[in-house]
This record gives sequence, C-alpha cells and structure tokens, in this order.
Amino acid sequence: VKRITTNTLQKMKASGEKISMLTAYDFSFATLFDAAGIDVLLVGDSASNVMAGHETTLPITLDQMIYHASSVIRGARRALVVVDLPFGSYQSNSELAVASAIRIMKETGAHAIKLEGGEEVLESVKKIIAAGIPVMAHLGLTPQSIYKFGTYNVRAKEEAEANKLRKDAKLLEEAGCFALVLEKIPANLAKEVSAALHIPTIGIGAGKYCDGQVLVMHDMLGINTEFKPRFLRQYLNIHDQATKAVQKYIEDVRSNNFPNDNESY
Ligand code: KIV
Ligand code: NA
Repeated sequence: VKRITTNTLQKMKASGEKISMLTAYDFSFATLFDAAGIDVLLVGDSASNVMAGHETTLPITLDQMIYHASSVIRGARRALVVVDLPFGSYQSNSELAVASAIRIMKETGAHAIKLEGGEEVLESVKKIIAAGIPVMAHLGLTPQSIYKFGTYNVRAKEEAEANKLRKDAKLLEEAGCFALVLEKIPANLAKEVSAALHIPTIGIGAGKYCDGQVLVMHDMLGINTEFKPRFLRQYLNIHDQATKAVQKYIEDVRSNNFPNDNESY
C-alpha cells in the first residue's frame, strides 16, 4: 500500500477530491480505520475526554499523547498519522513547542503534529516546520481555549472574530502548514477560507465546503451517546449494541449457558 503524505493531501485539494479524517487512540481501531480506507488518522487530545474521562482536553499530558500515538502508528499502514500537541506542551514558548513536537516524531513515528491557534503560535509553527516537522493548524472552536471562550457555541459569527480567523488562516498557510482544521464556524466562512487557501481545510461542524471532514470516532460510532451536537452524524450505535451483547453474556454466564461443550476442551 502507498502511504498518504502531506503531498497527497495537497493534490487531493487541487483535484477537488475530499479528504476523510477520523480520530484514533489505539492500535485496534487504527488498524480497522486504516484498512477501511481512511486518509488521515488524528491522535486527538480528545483522548482526554473519550479515553480518560476528563471533562476537557486540558489535563492530557505529552507522555500520554505519545502512548496513544505510538499505538496508533503501529496500526496505520496507509493513513497519514497526525498527533495533537496537548495543552501546556507548546503555548509558553517556541523552544518548548519544538521540543514537544520533536518528542512526538521521535518517540512515536508519527508523520505530523497539530496545534491550536493562529498568530499567537505563529513563531512556534515556523520553528517546528523549520525542524522538518509538518504542521496541521486548527482554528475556530479550539477546545484548549474553552475557559477563554466560556462556551462550546459556534465561533466567528461576529465580524471581528471572523476577520481574525481569515487573517490567521493566511498567516498559517504562509508559515507552511500543510492543512487547517476548522472547528464549529459558519459554513459560509469556512467556504470562503477554503477558497482563499491553497492548503486543504478539514472541517468539523464547519459545513460542506471544506476540503475534508473529521469526526471523533467515539461520536460517529455512537460509543458516546450523550454528546449530540447538530454537526454530528452518528453512523452506528455501539452503545446500544454493546450493552445488549454484554447483558446477554452476563445472562449466559449466570445461567451456565456459556461455555457449552463445543466451547470447552
Ligand atoms: O482532538 C480532536 O479530536 C480534534 C478534532 C476534533 C479536530 O482536534
Ligand atoms: Na484536538
């Protein structure tokens, strides 16, 4: 199999071929998604929520992200693997940002990193790229800043914030980012930004005009069932199916219906 690279994604944008991206945090699901044909696997810091049970993405550590990423990379034969720099591993200064990005590349074998923000992190973005590490950017509802926003509502509805986002997108492209995630912004703003950039945009809650789409695996597979924002399309209900399976198993064990003779040595 031929590996998807950042160059592949540029070509897909140029030819109008949409990019599919899903989060993954472990070897088994990474293997499954990769074999199903996903283009990009994101080891998201959403692991903090869906794997560790935290309320926000803030608590997850760089060491924990490295553990998840090294598991995912062992399952990915074709997909490009991108890893989130977690909160606290890059915001304070660009030397720390480069050191964190290098740790991810060296200790996991991943192909690229992602970080949140625009102008505020531009120097870090430039230094990470100068170190030879591809960077995916992330604008709009950036969850590491949730306590600044105070809400998970749609971002950039007001002109001032939309203008900053337009400017940030351009700056990130000029700095050499290979793609840009747009999270929870109006579809028309995402359309405009996608048309203005040469690099692909990957949307989540950002409408159909982005060059690709990303969802959190637990949300789209229905492992989580409480989180139901309008942008989410749930393709499966693992919650209900797994609950039934586990209940049946408990029943079978209790009634001595499992194991039977064929299942015994
Ligand atoms: O951490 C994550 O899952 C993400 C995606 C939602 C873009 O950053
Ligand atoms: Na993230």
